[in-house]
Formats: sequence, C-alpha cells, structure tokens
Amino acid sequence: MDSIIVTGNGPLSGQIPIAGAKNACLTLMPATLLSEEPLTLTNAPRLSDIRTMTTLLQSLGAEVQSLQDGQVLAMSSHDINNHTADYDIVRKMRASILVLGPMLARDGHAVVSLPGGCAIGARPVDLHLRALEAMGAELDLRDGYVHAKAPSGGLRGGTVDFPLVSVGATENALMAATLAKGTTVIKNAAREPEIVDLADCLRRMGAQIEGDGSPTITVQGVDRLGGATHRVVTDRIELGTYMLAPAICGGEVTLLGGRIDLVGAFCEKLDAAGISVTETPEGLTVSRKTDRTKAVDVTTEPFPGFPTDLQAQMMALLCTADGTSVLEEKIFENRFMHAPELMRMGARIDVHGGHARVTGVEKLKGAPVMATDLRASVSLILAGLAAEGETVVNRVYHLDRGYEHVVRKLSGVGAKIERVKGQ
Ligand code: EPZ
Repeated sequence: MDSIIVTGNGPLSGQIPIAGAKNACLTLMPATLLSEEPLTLTNAPRLSDIRTMTTLLQSLGAEVQSLQDGQVLAMSSHDINNHTADYDIVRKMRASILVLGPMLARDGHAVVSLPGGCAIGARPVDLHLRALEAMGAELDLRDGYVHAKAPSGGLRGGTVDFPLVSVGATENALMAATLAKGTTVIKNAAREPEIVDLADCLRRMGAQIEGDGSPTITVQGVDRLGGATHRVVTDRIELGTYMLAPAICGGEVTLLGGRIDLVGAFCEKLDAAGISVTETPEGLTVSRKTDRTKAVDVTTEPFPGFPTDLQAQMMALLCTADGTSVLEEKIFENRFMHAPELMRMGARIDVHGGHARVTGVEKLKGAPVMATDLRASVSLILAGLAAEGETVVNRVYHLDRGYEHVVRKLSGVGAKIERVKGQ
C-alpha cells in the first residue's frame, strides 16, 4: 500500500486548481439511467470513486466513456439490460445506492445490494426506501439486497417527509420523482450545493423541479427525459481542504475556481480563527492574519451549516491554535478516528462521544500515522505540512477516493510532500 511522506516546510504560496465535486458527480452519473439519450458531464474529477460508479453503471448496461484525461464523462443508458447492482461493487462505495431510484423510475424494477457498514457510522438507507415507498414502490429486503417494484404504470407522485436531513435520500427521491406520475413534494430536504447541481442537470434533461436549495422541493413528473451536457459544480470539500493549507502553514494561496457561497459557514469559522479569505476573479485567496491561529468552537450541521466533511481538516488546524476549541460532530456517530492519529503527532485532544476538546500546542511533531477514512487521511497530511520533521501517512488509498493529484497540488505551492509506492 502506498504512503505519503510530508515534511514541515514553512509558508506556502501560489495557486491550486479546484476540481469538480466528487459528491455531485456521484449523483449526476446515475441520472443517466433516467433517459435513453446521452448525458455528458464536464469538469468531472479523476477519482477512484468515479471509476467505481463507472463500473457499476457499465454492469447495468450503460455506456460510460472517460474522455479528455478523465474530465469528461460521456454516458448513455440506451440499452440497460441488467437491473441488479451487485454486492461486489456496492460494498466498495455506499453511493451505489443512488442507482435504485433512477432504475425504479425508468423500468419499474431494480435489485440493489445494501451498502453494509462504514467506518464513520452505521449509515442506514431506511430514508431512501421510505421515500420510494411514498411514491408507491413495493420493497422487499432479502439476502442483503433491496428488491424494488413500482406499481403498474410506474411510480406515483407523493409526499416525502424526511424526519432528518439526508443528502443521499433526497437525491434518490429527487431523481425518482422526475418520472413519477403527478406531483412529488420532498419536505425537510437536504439543501447541499450538490443537490442544486443535480436539479440543474435534471432540468437540462427536461425535468420540472422547483425549490432545490430550500427545505421543500416540488417535482412535476414528466413522461420522459432527454439528454444534456452538464458541468459538475466545484468541489467545496476539496476547496475547504486546500484553504486550510496556508491557514496551517502560513503564507498565501489562491484556490482557482473557489466560490465563497459554497463555503460560507466554513469561512465564518476561518475568520474567527484569524484567517483571511478574499474573493478574486480567479477564485478565493487565503492567508493567515496572525502569527498563531485562534481557537474556535465548531458544530457540524447539514448545509448551509458547517460541513461534517471538513471537520477532520478543521481539527488539524485547531491542534496548533492559541487556546482550547470544542468540535461537536452531529452528523455521524463515529467521525473522530483521526484524533488518536493527531495525538501521535503531539496534539492534545479529549474525545467524549460526539465532542472533541482540542487544546492547542505550539507545534506538532512528525510521526508515522494511519489513515482511517477519506477526510481523516487528508487531515493528517495537513497536520504534517506544519509539523516538525517527517510525517508518514499510511493507507492513502482512502485519499484517492476523494482527492486528485494531492502531491502535485501541494508541492506546487511549496509543500515538501511525496508519494511512496507500497511494497
Ligand atoms: C453524503 O453522504 C456525502 N456522500 C458524505 O460525504 C457526507 O458526509 C454526507 O452526505 C453528509 O453531508 C456523498 O454525497 C456520496 P446523509 P450520505 O444521508 O448521503 C443518516 C465524503 O467524505 N441517515 O446525509 O450518505 C446517516 O446515518 C462523504 O465525501 C439515516 O439515518 O449522508 C447520517 O447520520 C462521507 N438513514 C445522516 O443521516 C438514511 O436512509 C446524514 O447522512 C440516510 C441517512
């Protein structure tokens, strides 16, 4: 297994281009199943999760061509000949569940493996299933698979009222509702930019959708959807991650393609910590205003709140802040696995349930550490950028799921970082 070696190397300067969003692309790709006409995505990120989704769609009979060095995905679902999403693919990536709604809406039946466990939490899919039942679907859980059947004549419009905000369940319901007979109202919907990006793409395909980005989405079902070309929205989590690099090391970095509306709550916390964020024609420029970061308290929330996918990276920043910060993780029940690894680097962190108390130290020290999940892995790299000596991050396959060209992007702004091939 490959590892990444980072050596503290002082302030950073330069530009980092931000890619298209993994979490938008992973819901945009299954949307191809809703139409027999081609769907082309541009600004697609080059990530192992995108390759997994490609394999899944191809296993159903869809054509997926990766063009222009992987930044363009030309897809067509003209000949879907298999309606079973196999465990062997689904177990690699939970987002595979997002083929369920589109397949059911398109052909009235689908069999999708349940995703199974995850390092950061139980992550059930009950809300996805309840949403489809509200549209008339019959679901049978058997042998680790969801066997789904639409009523004759197809899914019907209905009211989906989520007891808690779920990004994935909102996406599945939204896609299914586009071809359902009548009107669907999705209440307490997720408001993430990836949902708005999906709705924009579906509208290009001919869907009738209103309210995306607000808690209530209304969808008027149509008989069929056409093709489209859609540019994937900027990855706000990759953006936030690289905004923290100059915050942790000092210096000034411009994030090309960065948009402040995607990271509002995050920027408020950076400002409170003494980090300056400026909008420029190219994107966002980040620099540290003070010698030492100030401690801040953070609570993760659904959008537009502070994103859980930036919690680990924010903890890396707060490890050397002046004072004590409290991080509260409200979305996932087991998302502090990076804390013991940061403590191996000399951080002072007390974790109790969903709260982590971080008492800032002057400086971290490099050490061998272990990546446990996607965002935890990049928080260890960020911590290593400002630590004394060498940090060796192992199991970086986690990182490849959500970050393209990390070594090239960070060394391009002056970081001392290299990837070492595994034995
Ligand atoms: C999406 O996951 C993202 N993944 C996650 O990013 C992100 O952390 C999460 O949204 C929250 O923002 C993708 O978009 C592919 P949820 P998702 O459904 O849709 C509970 C990353 O690092 N829940 O909004 O799976 C669930 O257990 C990843 O890129 C149910 O109880 O998240 C959690 O506590 C990690 N039943 C909460 O809701 C359900 O049926 C929010 O989960 C569904 C969810």
